[in-house]
Amino acid sequence: MKSPALIAAGLAAVLFASPAAAATGSPGAPGVGDSYYPLDGNGGYDATHYDIRLNYDPATDHLSGTTTILARTTQDLSEFNLDFLLKVSSVRVDNVAADFHTAGGELTVTPKAVLPKDRDLTIVVRYDDTPEPYRLYGYAGWQKTPTGALGVNEPQIAPWWYPSNDHPRDKATFDVSIAVPPGVEALSNGVLVNKQQTSPRWVRWNWRSTRPQAPYLTFLAIGQYDVRQGTAPDGQTLITAYGDDLGDNGPAARASVERTPEVLDVLSRYFGPYPFEAQGGVVDSSLGFALENQTRPVYDGAFFRAGTNTSVVAHENAHQWFGDSVSVDDWKEIWLNEGFATYAEYLWSDYQGEGTPAEVAQFTYDNIPADDPFWQVLPGDPGEQNQFADAVYDRGGMTLQALRTAVGDDAFFRIVKQWPQDKQYGTGTTTEFVALAEKVSGKQLDDLFTTWLYTPGKPAVGPNGQSAAAAAATAKPGSYDQIQQNHQLLAAGRK
Ligand code: TRP
Ligand code: ZN
Repeated sequence: MKSPALIAAGLAAVLFASPAAAATGSPGAPGVGDSYYPLDGNGGYDATHYDIRLNYDPATDHLSGTTTILARTTQDLSEFNLDFLLKVSSVRVDNVAADFHTAGGELTVTPKAVLPKDRDLTIVVRYDDTPEPYRLYGYAGWQKTPTGALGVNEPQIAPWWYPSNDHPRDKATFDVSIAVPPGVEALSNGVLVNKQQTSPRWVRWNWRSTRPQAPYLTFLAIGQYDVRQGTAPDGQTLITAYGDDLGDNGPAARASVERTPEVLDVLSRYFGPYPFEAQGGVVDSSLGFALENQTRPVYDGAFFRAGTNTSVVAHENAHQWFGDSVSVDDWKEIWLNEGFATYAEYLWSDYQGEGTPAEVAQFTYDNIPADDPFWQVLPGDPGEQNQFADAVYDRGGMTLQALRTAVGDDAFFRIVKQWPQDKQYGTGTTTEFVALAEKVSGKQLDDLFTTWLYTPGKPAVGPNGQSAAAAAATAKPGSYDQIQQNHQLLAAGRK
């Protein structure tokens, strides 16, 4: 509720409002206040749609074009930032040329006049550059590959290829249009709404995402791929693509990723309806990890070097609920993504007859000695350097098994279905998740989450509780090595 003083101030503003008074806006904040990445996102506006229209030449890593952003101001704005690294040639705000400068991953735009609060904006940014050499927080993002490039990374990739409000708190719909030379494939999220040769030199691919999408989950994969366009049993567009250079990993990659609709069907029994409008996957031999890009995860070919790996497909597709539809409200909450994706690997293991969640979680707990540095990383706030450490995955997964033990199967599965329903297309925090778990179960759960997420050291009681039967050592589940190998590859993450 507003205080009397604020109401009086508001009244004064109304009484004395004049065109001159409207000219006093203030600059939007350069970041949204993320705990690990202070410059990610921006203040003063909300983006509602990105129209990205680019040309890319794999021979030169030359990227050029225009991004048009539809946004709405959230304050009287004299100046605002976009998160962007590349050289910009012009910026227009509502069709009027604006002043701008770039520094350290921030594109600062100064419109000709102050933009009033609650106003729809059209921001047009033209640019032309080579993305590969840029670094943000010391990290590389864009990856040049032998036949193209990958705009695939976490927690940041947008600044290497389009200007954005780069934080999961500001989701938007996307049209990604990318022209490449004939014979090159250009892949992105959602549905392929058009593909057309526009000149002897260029073929343009138009992709569309119609559900709210975080900027880092919007991807580009350009190169030589075998693209398969199909329809899933539920009628959704299913697009998969396999790098021409996958070699002997190719068949196992296909035998895994082609099962994406089955994986989504199994996961939706636990987590509720699949939240998006298309499905698929891309396998590339240069990526080095896997990422849960919305509607279309991207996998390195190495995930399939020991044969089929449906476990990583379950992991990435579980992120469609936990990570993509419900995103982290702050990057320190990363266990809400990785712990759930790990738990989905346990559930998939059960479906495959290779160990129940209780067995996999118990074996993981038993297998890591108490003096292992693993137990010093806190999944609930691992620190920027440990954001994707093993503990975020494995201790995160064990945390959910400990919750299941504490509240029982019935409440547990109601919680994991309710969370993506309550938070669909938004963001969540651990505090909110604990509150939901307590509400659904009627139990006090602070101690459990404090022990598993926020206390250094190996919890004295394992994920299945302290009864002798629950805590009995189990034989190594059939899925264990695969799950561990997945996490090692995933945690290796970015460079
Ligand atoms: N979120 C990814 C997954 O678990 C893994 C990941 C961690 C990652 N760090 C990354 C992916 C950096 C790309 C870049 O599926
Ligand atoms: Zn993951």
